[in-house]
Amino acid sequence: MSFNKFDFISSYGSFKQLPDTSFPEIVFAGRSNVGKSSLLNKLMQRKSLAHVSSTPGKTATINFYGDDKIRFVDLPGYGYAKVSKSEKQRWAKLLEGYFNSDRNIKLVVLLVDMRHKPSVDDMDMAHFLSHNNLPFIIVMTKSDKLKKTAYNKRMEEVKHELEEFSNVAIIPFSSVTGEGIDKVKREISTAL
Ligand code: GTP
Ligand code: MG
Repeated sequence: MSFNKFDFISSYGSFKQLPDTSFPEIVFAGRSNVGKSSLLNKLMQRKSLAHVSSTPGKTATINFYGDDKIRFVDLPGYGYAKVSKSEKQRWAKLLEGYFNSDRNIKLVVLLVDMRHKPSVDDMDMAHFLSHNNLPFIIVMTKSDKLKKTAYNKRMEEVKHELEEFSNVAIIPFSSVTGEGIDKVKREISTAL
């Protein structure tokens, strides 16, 4: 399955405006700056369809991409400390509103920075998905930033850190080297 005919569809700053849709949705969630837009661009084979930014907290909207059959949903990144409390509340409402609206979610791709232990926010999100029986995979981003020894060490550690989600696929990924992209594509195709 290929996603290179995907285009930008729409962007929403409030869940009240979210479109009712029966399109199957693949959802991308993770901390601000973790690499969601970079993964989306790799999947859609487009350089900058999804806005990549070195300033965290840029994507404060839910963005939809897709073709005539499928939707990719880019959720606003959580856990960025430097935004105001009211902005954080808006994000939380947006996320909650999205998951509470009656969607046709086929798979959630939860992105976690491979270099670090999953944050409390990451674990909260994984628990939320698991409790709500939403199918999900964990993509560990920025794998290119780790040298071999550190890479292998993180692979071992993460097995324990995410032990309770033992039936969830964990995929190391780099938008720089392309590591893991085929596996992510395969998981998405299977889910659809
Ligand atoms: P927000 O939309 O702000 O929540 O961020 P995001 O999760 O969409 O992250 P984005 O893709 O914009 O990437 C954030 C920064 O990390 C950018 O500077 C990217 O170039 C960098 N980055 C993303 N993925 C990778 C990766 O796999 N390897 C490396 N080395 N850098 C990456
Ligand atoms: Mg983004």
